[in-house]
Amino acid sequence: MAAPRILLIVGGGIAAYKSIELVRLLRKAGMTVRCVLTRAGEQFVTPLTLAALSENKVHTNLFDLKDEVEMGHIELSREADLVVVAPATADLLAKMAAGIADDMATTLLLATDKPVLAAPAMNVRMWLHAATRRNVATLRGDGVSVMEPDEGEMACGEYGPGRLPEPAAIKEAIDKALANPPAIVPLAGQPDFAPANHRPLFGRRILVTAGPTHEPIDPVRYIANRSSGKQGFAIAAAAAEAGAEVLLVAGPVPLPTPPGVIRVDVETAVEMAAEVAGGLPVDAAIMVAAVADWRAADTAPRKIKKDGSGRVPPLALAENPDILAGLAKSPERPPLLIGFAAETNDVIAHAEAKLARKGCDWIVANDVSADPMGGESNRVHIVSKDGVDSWDRLPKQAVARKLMEKIADELEKRTPLERD
Ligand code: C5P
Repeated sequence: MAAPRILLIVGGGIAAYKSIELVRLLRKAGMTVRCVLTRAGEQFVTPLTLAALSENKVHTNLFDLKDEVEMGHIELSREADLVVVAPATADLLAKMAAGIADDMATTLLLATDKPVLAAPAMNVRMWLHAATRRNVATLRGDGVSVMEPDEGEMACGEYGPGRLPEPAAIKEAIDKALANPPAIVPLAGQPDFAPANHRPLFGRRILVTAGPTHEPIDPVRYIANRSSGKQGFAIAAAAAEAGAEVLLVAGPVPLPTPPGVIRVDVETAVEMAAEVAGGLPVDAAIMVAAVADWRAADTAPRKIKKDGSGRVPPLALAENPDILAGLAKSPERPPLLIGFAAETNDVIAHAEAKLARKGCDWIVANDVSADPMGGESNRVHIVSKDGVDSWDRLPKQAVARKLMEKIADELEKRTPLERD
């Protein structure tokens, strides 16, 4: 196998010195390394040090005409197998998330068609700031692998998450990314994307439920299932990309509404059931929500107080409507009805039982033994009466897109549309 080629973008910050050790480790492992230093990065390491260690020219300035003659910036962004940003400062992450290209490093990041791995380093407050949280979520949603920073004492004297991961840990993440490349930001025209001319769900109405439900016990407490909503939101996004009209009935999750999706927010299973019923008829319903099976039989109007006696207040439960099973029996049952199931063992057998119990057409069974709850990838098996279709572990966006292709094919069989 040819030596892996790494394009290393070194941002500013005291942690930039660790990039030197990283280059050394990568070279020792036989990788080719080409470095790009941001203007801020140049304040902490010199181009000469990186050039000597990488045995390659170091790029700094976008408008270096000589560079453009030798190798254009687009070419530079594409010749690598993996683009690594270390340290990825708050500023670099923000620019990446916003698609800003105002220097060599950010232009390469916007122009690349290769997987990107970012190793953040910044002050703890900056890492925990809502803007950075948002930028990291956006980048991860776009398929960028953003490592978790290390926790510890920082150069500024504060303590918490924000330290650049150790070079050995970054090297490990690089090895992993090379072996199992993260999803690449899709480009219109690529087969795994639904560009304007590939809209297999055009003319279809799709309903998606996502996230948990919150069942109030009193004004401050609730019963809920663990659910990030990420897979459901990715499915709604992919359905809209594929041209469908999408209604997303979402439980309480702090995720942005995907472009082109109509979103209705709900709290409880009863509210979710009502919004689902109100959204019919649809061509396909994909029930991804982790609906709470029970709710408090009575919701206290005021906060239930501890009275110091050690007595535990009684909590009577009532069963929630099973939205999926109810839809399967409804006169407005969608032609294609899909349920989800998170299982830790005997995934297929449990999914087959659920398929029969719920009366739906497919169960997308999720193997949660490796804990993808809240994670970025999923390994799923599509269980139907025709058998089991098992997919490799994929980023949630990729699962969603692949599922849309399968749904489009199935709908063409069940309820073909007349297209000119
Ligand atoms: O019964 P279980 O929760 O394991 O089933 C999961 C599937 O059923 C998911 O598709 C989920 O959205 C759906 N469901 C539902 N209403 C409920 C419980 C589950 O729609 N009350």
